[in-house]
Amino acid sequence: MTTSASPPPPASQSGRYPPGAAAFPHQGLLGIAGLAPHEILFLLDEAEQWVELNRQPQKRDDRLAGLTIINAFFENSTRTLLSFEIAGKRLGADVVNMHAATSSVKKGETLIDTAMTLNAMRADAIVIRHASSGAVRLIAGKVDCPVLNAGDGQHEHPTQALLDALTIRHALRERGDSDSLVGLTVTICGDILHSRVARSNILSLTALGANVRVCAPPALMPEGIEAMRVTPFHDFNAALDGADVVMMLRLQQERMDGQFIPSPREFRHLYGLTLDRLARAKPGVLVMHPGPMNRGVEIDSNVADLVGTSLITRQVEMGVAIRMACLDVLTRRARKLPGWVGPEISGEAWARETGA
Ligand code: MLT
Repeated sequence: MTTSASPPPPASQSGRYPPGAAAFPHQGLLGIAGLAPHEILFLLDEAEQWVELNRQPQKRDDRLAGLTIINAFFENSTRTLLSFEIAGKRLGADVVNMHAATSSVKKGETLIDTAMTLNAMRADAIVIRHASSGAVRLIAGKVDCPVLNAGDGQHEHPTQALLDALTIRHALRERGDSDSLVGLTVTICGDILHSRVARSNILSLTALGANVRVCAPPALMPEGIEAMRVTPFHDFNAALDGADVVMMLRLQQERMDGQFIPSPREFRHLYGLTLDRLARAKPGVLVMHPGPMNRGVEIDSNVADLVGTSLITRQVEMGVAIRMACLDVLTRRARKLPGWVGPEISGEAWARETGA
C-alpha cells in the first residue's frame, strides 16, 4: 500500500442519501447504534474533502469561525483529544479543552452540574470522553448543543469506527478495488468484552455489509455476541483464515475488575498478532489498531510497522478528517445552512423509497 494521495471521492454522491438535513437528522453523535447505513456513508463521504484538505500545506477552512467547541475529557486520551482539537481548529472554531484532572470534578461536582456549566458557557458543540458507559448520553440530555461521544466506558467510540471504515475504504481504493466494504471479512481480536472500539466497529462494519469475526479468550468475549451479527472465535488462527482485514485491540486493564487472562505473555502466545500468524490471512491483508498499542502483547512490532500492510498511522490521519466532518455536519443546523433548517424530507421515507 502506498501512502500517496488517494484518488478523489466519486464525483457525484447523488442517490446515496437524502438531501439536506435528512441525510443526517441526528442532533449529536452518541454512538453508531441508531445510525442507518446511508447516514454512516454520508459522514464518510463528507470526510473525503477533509482528507484532501489535510494533505495540503494550507489546512484551513473557516466555516466554524466564531463557534466554540469544548472538549470535555474525563478520561485519559492522547490521540482522540488531539484529533478533535486539530479538527475544530482547522475548521476555524475556538477550541477549549477541559481535563477532568484539573476541573471541579475533582472537587466533587456532579456530572450534571458540570454539564450545566458547560451549557451556560454557550458552547456550540461539546465533545465528551468519560469512563462510564452512558455518561455521554446523560450530558447530551442536559445541554442545548450537539454532543459528540469521544468514548464512554465500554459502550461506544463512534468516531473511531467511522475513521476505521474510512481507512479501509481508502486502502481498498488505493489498490484499485471498489471502496465498498460489502462482503469484506474483518477479524477483530483482543479484549472484545471491554472494548468500545469493538462495539462501535461491529455496528458500523455490519451496517456497511462486512462479515465480522470477533476473537477473544472466553473470559474476554461478551455473552450472546452473536446477536450483533458477528461470528465468535476463540481460536485466533481459525479467525485469521482468509481475513481481509485484521483489527487488533489492547487489553483494557483499566476496565478489568479481577484476573481475565493468566498473563500478558500467555495472551500473546494465543492471541498476539505475529508475522507467522498473519500469513493465515488473505494475501494483501490490512492490519489495524486503534492505539495505544502494547507492542509485543496484542501485536508484534514487525507487524505494526509492516509497510503496505499496517494502516495504523493512516487511521490517525483519517481520524482528523472524520472529526472535521462530524463537527461540520452537526453544526449545520445552528449555522442555518440551506437544507438544514426548515422543511426536510425524512431519511426513513427516502430509505423506504430507494431501498437504501
Ligand atoms: C479507546 O479510547 O477506546 C482507544 O481508542 C482504544 C484503547 O484505549 O485501547
